[in-house]
Amino acid sequence: MRARWMVAVLIVGFALSSVVAAVAAEQATLPAIPGITAEDTHPNGCTDCHRKVSADGDYSLATEIANMVKEGRHPRVSDRMLQDLPKQCITCHKPDSKYPFGEIMHSAHLTGGAENHFITNYQGQCMHCHAMDPQTGSITVKGL
Ligand code: HEC
Ligand code: HEC
Ligand code: HEC
Repeated sequence: MRARWMVAVLIVGFALSSVVAAVAAEQATLPAIPGITAEDTHPNGCTDCHRKVSADGDYSLATEIANMVKEGRHPRVSDRMLQDLPKQCITCHKPDSKYPFGEIMHSAHLTGGAENHFITNYQGQCMHCHAMDPQTGSITVKGL
């Protein structure tokens, strides 16, 4: 009687541990994609990251431009053209221009491996900038 009871406990125990293992495996392999399988922590895209976070931490787009101007990598841009961002970037960075917005954004955020803070701090996730409509499957850029 006691032996049969022990066998039953073992079987139930084994079944339970395989369920626990399966759940753990699923959690371990499910990638955390913003807005797809995980919370979208940057629903506004660019401006959720590119803002002033402290006195010496100004990552706003206007400051990013000013830094590139200082480094001689960007033409000077009037304040009037930096009002409604990122939309106004497209004035110069049209898809058929010499510097299309998508291409310069992909290069800025997705090259350089471990040197690039978008890759090391934000997992290089496309969906920090892009958003998908689950009904239609169409993909857009947040804020444009
Ligand atoms: C989730 C956070 C995040 C989002 C969203 C994001 N960026 Fe960035 N961006 C970064 C980080 C981090 C860097 C620094 C990359 C590096 O280490 O070189 C960066 C760098 C840049 C730079 C500097 C490039 C250079 O060559 O100096 C520009 C300009 C820029 N981002 C514009 C944008 C625009 C425009 C968007 C929206 C279309 C955007 N970013 C969306 C985090 C973000
Ligand atoms: C008045 C036109 C103009 C506007 C507005 C403009 N850009 Fe540019 N941008 C340029 C030109 C021209 C270049 C190429 C500069 C070069 O290679 O010498 C460039 C280059 C860049 C580069 C590449 C720099 C490099 O090191 O290769 C980034 C990144 C960039 N722009 C981001 C932006 C963002 C973000 C905005 C909006 C906040 C913006 N730009 C608005 C004209 C503009
Ligand atoms: C830093 C923001 C940012 C990230 C990260 C990003 N994109 Fe983009 N992507 C853009 C912008 C801005 C455009 C241009 C939209 C426009 O011109 O209307 C774009 C456009 C595109 C396009 C249309 C073709 C083109 O180049 O304009 C494709 C395809 C695309 N992205 C795929 C991806 C994929 C795949 C990833 C991840 C590996 C990714 N993007 C990551 C900002 C981003």
